[in-house]
Amino acid sequence: MSRVAYVNGRYVPQRVAAVNIEDRGYQFGDGVYEVVHVHGGCLIDADLHLARLERSLGEIEIPVPLGPRALRQVFAEMMRRNRVSEGLIYMQVTRGVARREHAFPKPLPKPAVVVTIRRLPPFPRDVEAWTAAAITRPDERWQRCDIKSVNLLANVLAKEAAHAAGAAEAIFVDAAGMVTEGASSSVWMVDREGCLCTRKLDHAVLPGCTRAALIGLMEEAGIAWRESGFAKAELAAAREIFITSASSFVKPVVRLDGRSVGEGRVGPVTRRLFALFAHHVQGAVRNAPAAAS
Ligand code: PDD
Repeated sequence: MSRVAYVNGRYVPQRVAAVNIEDRGYQFGDGVYEVVHVHGGCLIDADLHLARLERSLGEIEIPVPLGPRALRQVFAEMMRRNRVSEGLIYMQVTRGVARREHAFPKPLPKPAVVVTIRRLPPFPRDVEAWTAAAITRPDERWQRCDIKSVNLLANVLAKEAAHAAGAAEAIFVDAAGMVTEGASSSVWMVDREGCLCTRKLDHAVLPGCTRAALIGLMEEAGIAWRESGFAKAELAAAREIFITSASSFVKPVVRLDGRSVGEGRVGPVTRRLFALFAHHVQGAVRNAPAAAS
């Protein structure tokens, strides 16, 4: 079956789907995006992703092209047309098509909206089958990483370095030696004293939707955690490290820069949080009113 993409209001075969060469996303990276996990035919944490999309658009002054209701309809239609019940939805909104001038075009073009979906194997039940290695890299990104911009060159280069080193993720370290986040994930650790922490939200990191959902679950379950920054040296000495994102949920990092993290196995805190998040994801399916949650 051929894949179908959504491009500016139309569902088209993906192999012929195209955008204008003067689209500002293509020319300048002038746009934002979201990635939403689909599990059991349900969208996971869609409200959080749709709210963050509106925030990202607002921060770079792109008018909201479709509201959350309309976008949910597009996502449901994409699942249906592509027959995907396990996978990832990718959507991006750019400032639209205009003659190439850096400043915002006047009059404003219509934002360009593209949605694609791709199938993934179902989320594993066994955390042991979900471990990853990571490397650290200097954070060479811009000063507004809280905006989910399609400008991902520094992330692309860092991921490539990770893959070349046999790792799945690159963890960014800023000029002061502090950990910011992963190239496509939020970073957490259990420090030497057993304290679970992640960096506070500021302009240096994306406010992760999986991070937010996990914090909600931990608070309900009475699991203590702290929002505090940590240095690369503290990360290297951590008992446990894990990353969170829409595509990886809770993923244990068992090797960092070629060395074992803690005992080199999935630690008890990560194991518990993986189970908590898996329950949350299953709950989205159990509680879904119809096809999509
Ligand atoms: N990445 N930080 C960065 C830089 C990210 O790119 C991502 C997500 C996250 C985690 O955010 P969330 O939990 O909302 O997925 C943190 C997506 C999955 C991607 O680019 O594919």
